[in-house]
Amino acid sequence: MSFGFLRAAFFIVLLTAGSAAFAHSTATGIVKERMESMKAIGKATKSIVAMMQGKQDYDPTAISAAAASIKEHGGEGLLAKFPKDSLDPPSEALPAIWQDWVTFKTLNEDLRREAALLETVAANGPEGFGTVVTYTDDRAQPAGPVATRLLKTCKSCHDKFREED
Ligand code: HEC
Repeated sequence: MSFGFLRAAFFIVLLTAGSAAFAHSTATGIVKERMESMKAIGKATKSIVAMMQGKQDYDPTAISAAAASIKEHGGEGLLAKFPKDSLDPPSEALPAIWQDWVTFKTLNEDLRREAALLETVAANGPEGFGTVVTYTDDRAQPAGPVATRLLKTCKSCHDKFREED
């Protein structure tokens, strides 16, 4: 288990403990829909992280299912939940999303790809977390182990495109 995994994992724990639960309860429309997608992604990620940290026994079926959930809640469907300038409260989305749509879209695609990869390599056991794939098209982040890239994608996108709690 590398130190990088743990640091990224720690970030996720913080991420799920913030004000999101309260904000979420007053949201409506498309903002509510995307918060719900993100919440589902958060929940799936939390279970993956628990296994990365060894707090839960490694369960390839559960990892695969969690990764599939991230994949399904992400991708084109998630992008469609960010129509231009949809910033109704209590959204924590930043206008930068539409000013730098290409980066936002690329990070979203990174998330979908890493989740899809994790879904398939989960069967290889914990070492599957270290699977590295080099992409030939431009990606938002450098190559690295699938688990690290998956978690870094959350952070990269939130740092740039989401208000801090
Ligand atoms: C492409 C950009 C992007 C990626 C990648 C991304 N997020 Fe988000 N996330 C956002 C934005 C933007 C918001 C704020 C949405 C809003 O409030 O309207 C958000 C909100 C959230 C929330 C709060 C939901 C709520 O109920 O308010 C959680 C939890 C979350 N993300 C978890 C994750 C996790 C875990 C990952 C990685 C596995 C991830 N996100 C990847 C952009 C992203």
